[in-house]
Amino acid sequence: MIGIVMMAFLLAVLQYLGLGDVVAVAANLGLLFLALTLLPINIMKLRFGFLAGALPALGWLVRHRRDFGILCGLLFVIHGTSAYIEYSSVSPSFLFTKPILPGVIAAFVIILMLLTSNLWVQQRLSRWRNLHELIWFILPLGMAHATGAALEYIGDDAGSATAAFGTLMVFVLVEFVLAKVRRLPLNWWHILMTLLGVGAAMMTQVL
Ligand code: HEM
Repeated sequence: MIGIVMMAFLLAVLQYLGLGDVVAVAANLGLLFLALTLLPINIMKLRFGFLAGALPALGWLVRHRRDFGILCGLLFVIHGTSAYIEYSSVSPSFLFTKPILPGVIAAFVIILMLLTSNLWVQQRLSRWRNLHELIWFILPLGMAHATGAALEYIGDDAGSATAAFGTLMVFVLVEFVLAKVRRLPLNWWHILMTLLGVGAAMMTQVL
């Protein structure tokens, strides 16, 4: 709670000083922490020999992935809240429009994960790890939302955000193929959740 207030305050100061737009800065910083949460641990699991020299740095990132994940979640919550305040004109129907709905579904999943990120809940909820695999589900939803919403509200193609979501999704595919080829333990959740996310993102655009 203190973290979210401090971060919101910092982003509000940035906006006040004209150094950045809270909605876009929070979304892009959130994406950076999303990549820092997901990539190091899964790259390490692929056991690339050429990464031996980078193992201490990767190990440091892996040890801090819980903090990165929480930061990422808080930033996306700040992004969604400030976007609602800035663009909705207080009409909840804004949340059900084609560019925004995938973001709202992703925000719901992120809030579920944030609520189950503390030790108290994790000691009582033995299957919290399965729930956190839902992070892969939000990748296609986030991509559909970022490209659609940025185009609609700021006339921008959100190129860096699209590239970031795209890279994470390509990683899932590469990881799947490499694990198969090299007979490494395969985590089916990553590819399954990403494919489900593709389906959900498509549904939001045809409903
Ligand atoms: C209630 C939830 C949400 C609302 C109302 C919302 C609203 C918006 C709006 C209005 C924009 C376009 C304005 C702008 O880019 O400055 C936008 C862009 C964006 N949103 Fe969301 N969003 C929500 C949740 C999310 C979530 C959960 C994610 C991540 C998974 C996300 C990621 C992004 C990204 C990456 C952009 C493009 C930022 C840029 O480069 O300009 N949003 N969102």
